[in-house]
Amino acid sequence: MSDANEYGYRSFQLGGFHFTRDEYFAHISWPGGSHTTAVDAFLRSLMRDVSWNFFYGIVNFDAVFGTANHYGTVDVFAGLYNAGYRAQNKHYVENLKSDEVRALFAEMLTDWTNEGFDPFAAPAETGTPFGPKRGSNPKAINRKRLVAARMTGMKGDIALRSDAAGNPVNRQFLDVPQDEPEVHAEPGFENEVHAFNFFAYVSRSDVTWNPSVCSVVKDSQVCATTEEFILPIIHGNDRVEWFVQLSDEIHWDIQDRDTGAPRARAVMKAGDVAAMPADIRHQGYSPKRSMLLVWENADSTLPEKYASGKLKANPVDF
Ligand code: PHB
Ligand code: FE
Repeated sequence: MSDANEYGYRSFQLGGFHFTRDEYFAHISWPGGSHTTAVDAFLRSLMRDVSWNFFYGIVNFDAVFGTANHYGTVDVFAGLYNAGYRAQNKHYVENLKSDEVRALFAEMLTDWTNEGFDPFAAPAETGTPFGPKRGSNPKAINRKRLVAARMTGMKGDIALRSDAAGNPVNRQFLDVPQDEPEVHAEPGFENEVHAFNFFAYVSRSDVTWNPSVCSVVKDSQVCATTEEFILPIIHGNDRVEWFVQLSDEIHWDIQDRDTGAPRARAVMKAGDVAAMPADIRHQGYSPKRSMLLVWENADSTLPEKYASGKLKANPVDF
């Protein structure tokens, strides 16, 4: 492409932000500052920001750069949630239309992702993102996020996974039983009663750190995900999130959402349940592939209720 740099990659401009990549790094600059970050981590974060439509609250790519979702518009920032940047008044933020940011991020992801690199895959299951530009990987980066209307496996809803559908059991879950429950509904209730083997479903996920919505009851969303290596983003909550560790373990670093000051470490083992408060940021480390259930509350009035103090940040006191 004519505007590609010496490594074959295009540069991108979003408001005052300028993005370039070379063989190893993404470089970001803005009026008054610049930042460099490893391109593997950057692409993994970018993938999730695009795929999740900026997610709930704040997506920190690292301690400096990220996005804060205002559901229609998005703050793109550098140093906004970094105590050091803030103390020196070096932070920079632009509020932009979500669609505009997402379109540019998607274009950047397309151009910067090389053939053989899947930003959703565990590092042990994918090729390298590094080096000069080498092909592309549209199949990996255009996956549609799985969001059930009612429940995975119901008629007309997201399908269950199977070998036949091209979803083999992951190498680390070969011991997970694959039998399905029997459902005997009363006549007339065949479309209302449903059950499936959640462990079997999750054991066949080919992606990591990518919750898919498996059941929806009003604002209650039960999400399933398999985790391996590091959650690429440092997620700043704008509501409480419940975690149920279904297998193996994840180590969580938990920090103050706004400053990044360390608040807690939580090592969650199979069977552990945690309520992540609404005023934290967190990043998880999964030493081997594990199963995590994330319970989200999609009520759009929650961010304001927490921000104004109408609701307290932690839902339970022990
Ligand atoms: C989170 O930030 O709460 C989160 C994101 C992705 C996951 C798990 C947890 O896979
Ligand atoms: Fe989170």
